[in-house]
Amino acid sequence: MSRSVLALEGGDALRQAPYPAWPALGPGDLDRVKAVLDSSVWGGSNQAVEAFEGLFAHFHDASFGIAVSSGTMALELAMHAAGIGPGDEVIVPAHSFVATATAVSRAGAVPVFVDIERDTFNIDSLRVAEAVSERTKALVPVHFGGVMADMDRLALVAKDRDFALIEDAAHAHGAEWFGTRAGGLGEIGVFSFQDSKAMTAGEGGIFITSDENLAARARSIANAGRLEGQGWFKHFELGTNLRMTAPQAALLHGQLERLQDQIRLRAANFSRFQEGLEEVDGVGLQRAPAGATVQTRYIVPGRIDERRFGAGRDRFVEAVQAEGVPVRPFYPHTLYENPLYRLQPHRALPCPVAEHATRDSFWLPMNLFMGTEEDAMDAARAIAKVHRAFKPRKSHRVNGSAA
Ligand SMILES: Cc1ncc(COP(=O)(O)O)c(C=O)c1O
Repeated sequence: MSRSVLALEGGDALRQAPYPAWPALGPGDLDRVKAVLDSSVWGGSNQAVEAFEGLFAHFHDASFGIAVSSGTMALELAMHAAGIGPGDEVIVPAHSFVATATAVSRAGAVPVFVDIERDTFNIDSLRVAEAVSERTKALVPVHFGGVMADMDRLALVAKDRDFALIEDAAHAHGAEWFGTRAGGLGEIGVFSFQDSKAMTAGEGGIFITSDENLAARARSIANAGRLEGQGWFKHFELGTNLRMTAPQAALLHGQLERLQDQIRLRAANFSRFQEGLEEVDGVGLQRAPAGATVQTRYIVPGRIDERRFGAGRDRFVEAVQAEGVPVRPFYPHTLYENPLYRLQPHRALPCPVAEHATRDSFWLPMNLFMGTEEDAMDAARAIAKVHRAFKPRKSHRVNGSAA
């Protein structure tokens, strides 16, 4: 069967081989994990955890790190350490993983949803001021896919209206804004090490800050309310146990060492992919603002212009997947449209861009950009093939186009 016939219609898939698997072990990883397991301390008191906390925080331009059990817990810890609670409001983007909003709700505060920008998929920095009220205590930008939100504009509003900036950097290990790394620009930065993330221990997260008081408070909350040097059974804060285990920290250590090479690899392959899409009309990939000087491309969101591409987002996803490229539809709802927020108190500004993104947007996983240039080019070729089959023709109509 001809390679030009869509796989969806019985043709050969353009991409036959799987993309590189993720997560993946690197050299030295197993030795580090074994060394930890050979010690008699497998929990959070192992030196490996503290060593990783310091390395990760310093790499991200912050002074202190508190490694925890997930990105969700790091966000909840941020709310508690920053003293956010009932009566407070926290501004969040209309699109993110649900934890960005539930951390606010679970602290007893009210999330206020703001639209995203069409081109960057990040919170619309020009709309944030409209969401501010007397009750605003913090703003949580998400650096979507590893492209930094406009930290200059956001920091200006936060400073002017006197509230905290808490960076949700779950997608942004190693990303930079004019040379400062993600998580190091706000009062607090949080990261996830969940399975799909660019650094992962299966699960895990970290809270980073350069504020000594915030760090001490967060460390105590994450460690059952203990204070350093004050004994194991003496508790000062209403804390909990969020501690990361030692094998997780050992696994993450090597990944931090490899992170920059992997970011460079993804950047180079992503550029080739973009070049490969130059002839394809109607596919708009996420744009990075000038300040986003290092983009990690953890996932790459994009948008389909149905009229120009010749098919809508769902048909695009179906056809490109059939060609062997694991594209996925964007979030099916804005955060506030989730059933959860029918019941939970919240405010939402009008979010037409975010609502549209549920219907016209998609994302590509980072594995497409973690192999060779050819791997990345195959993804572009698959999209081009689908476009050729669907694209609106001027001279004659093609049955089934723009379905
Ligand atoms: C933007 C964002 N924030 C927070 C989280 C929560 O991280 P975790 O899954 O480690 O709890 C995620 C995870 O998927 C995320 O994508």
